[in-house]
Amino acid sequence: MSVALSVPDYREQAPEVAARFTKLKERPVILDVQGLSKTFTAPGRPTTLALSDVSFQVHRRELMCVIGPSGCGKSTLARLVAGLEEPNGGRMLLDGKPIDGPGSDRGMVFQSYTLFPWLTVQKNVEFGLKAQAVEAAERARIAREFLALVKLGGFEDRYPYEISGGMKQRAAIARALAPDPDILLMDEPFGALDAQTRVLLQEELARIVAAAKRTVLFVTHSIEEAVFLADRIVVMSTHPGCVRSIHNVKLPRPRTAKTRSLADFITLTQELWDSLKPQSRDEEENAALRLHT
Ligand SMILES: Nc1ncnc2c1ncn2[C@@H]1O[C@H](COP(=O)(O)OP(=O)(O)OP(=O)(O)O)[C@@H](O)[C@H]1O
Ligand SMILES: [Mg+2]
Repeated sequence: MSVALSVPDYREQAPEVAARFTKLKERPVILDVQGLSKTFTAPGRPTTLALSDVSFQVHRRELMCVIGPSGCGKSTLARLVAGLEEPNGGRMLLDGKPIDGPGSDRGMVFQSYTLFPWLTVQKNVEFGLKAQAVEAAERARIAREFLALVKLGGFEDRYPYEISGGMKQRAAIARALAPDPDILLMDEPFGALDAQTRVLLQEELARIVAAAKRTVLFVTHSIEEAVFLADRIVVMSTHPGCVRSIHNVKLPRPRTAKTRSLADFITLTQELWDSLKPQSRDEEENAALRLHT
């Protein structure tokens, strides 16, 4: 007699995953992005509508990933939230307050946002605390605590040139976390690393964010990275960059090496690949154009 096996769909999540989402949605909204648009204009240069009417919300202690094709405006979005660019329309609220410039309430780990080469790892992590006028002994204590969290205990006195690329990014995460920001903004933080280090750091980040109970906005072009890390994923489409869909990642936590082999991981990854395919004739033509330019 054959028994029909029913494999649960990831949308029919386990009770503990459902409970996690209920709890998450009950937490206050930390980042509220409302109808954001951004156009780049410069004399004699072509005008680019980078973002158009982008809206989403990130709850406290949520890890929100943003994915989308190259040029869809992911970095522009991260820079706007960081206060490094000004929007042309819409607004962003951080813990209810409008964002109108950079601030220590946001920690940044960008691919190009490297450590200060003239400071030791310890002094790099202390940097933001110094700006907050935290006194020296307390600064040193907090920096050591976060360096231990990112497993860099023992490397406090090294200079950035004396540590590996993966260690630099872990130090950058410690530096961003130390001043206790409301949200950690990460734009392709592992993009320059080799595949193996990248996978290890994804696991580290999942552990660190859970241990430090932080809220994260994580931009990546890697669907697998987003599925591995996120509570929810914003999928953007291009020209102009706008939100195409928002997906719940109903995978259990903690996320570990085993997560990647779960059927639900593979199903959602495939679904996101499909959703990123050009969906209209215009998009196909734009994609083709980009391939030829
Ligand atoms: N400073 C700028 N001046 C003019 N145009 C810009 C500027 N920065 C970004 N753009 C344009 O805005 C659009 C979005 O760029 P952005 O860097 O945000 O994309 P992205 O999604 O991060 O791409 P990638 O995945 O390749 O990093 C692109 O068309 C880009 O050419
Ligand atoms: Mg980018």
